[in-house]
Amino acid sequence: MTYSDHLKTPLRLDLCSWKEVESYLTVCKAIILPIGSIEQHGPTGAIGTDAMTAQAVALEVSKRSKVLVAPVQHYGMAEHHLGFPGTMSIKPSTLLVLMHDLLCSLARHGFQRVFVINGHGGNIATLKAAFAESYKTILNSDEFQEKDFRCKLKNWFMVPEVFQKANELYGEMEGQHATPSEISLTLHLEPSLQDKQVPLQKPVPAGPIYSYKDFQKRYPDGRMGSDPYLAKSTHGKVFLEKAASNLSNDLLNFLKES
Ligand code: NI
Repeated sequence: MTYSDHLKTPLRLDLCSWKEVESYLTVCKAIILPIGSIEQHGPTGAIGTDAMTAQAVALEVSKRSKVLVAPVQHYGMAEHHLGFPGTMSIKPSTLLVLMHDLLCSLARHGFQRVFVINGHGGNIATLKAAFAESYKTILNSDEFQEKDFRCKLKNWFMVPEVFQKANELYGEMEGQHATPSEISLTLHLEPSLQDKQVPLQKPVPAGPIYSYKDFQKRYPDGRMGSDPYLAKSTHGKVFLEKAASNLSNDLLNFLKES
């Protein structure tokens, strides 16, 4: 592997030895942590869409920023999708404890900045709660040497340039779940998923989210106002580029914060 190849390769925690992590921490205290969800994405979208997309964006941000990237947390808070086969959800209280424990593990070894790249709207509230819980634990326990621990949450699908491009390409058919933008990214990452894409009936417009029973009644095929048939792998490449370039800047700004 040449030096330039090395620079193009993401720094993956799962491929490091503890010795390598120890020496990484002498030069950088930051880590990227992607999180997704394993949930239905309409009748044609992959169950792993949110995990796959968050991981891809995180690996790309790592390549650009040279910041270490942790393995993706595949499972997320997907209670409202449980009416559809294949969805595997962890309830908010479980996700809160899980994220708290992961963040505290990182803090214990001296990581001070965790940049969380999220692929699923349903995780947002619980992730913020987990940040608050971890700050409290770290501040109040002597087990943690370094008290200046900070987490930043970024949702790749809400990056303004991504949002704008999705609006330009799909208009209101972007919808709110099983969106053509996220499906485009999965087609770019996993070309075999193209075989599942077929034209669908007009979607039910997006609206509120309550229980999974209610969700199933409101959104019978799992989509919320989206037409995933508009998705194209070439669009996915553009979304990945836009998300990664915006979030790499955000990460660098996060590291410069006073
Ligand atoms: Ni999704």
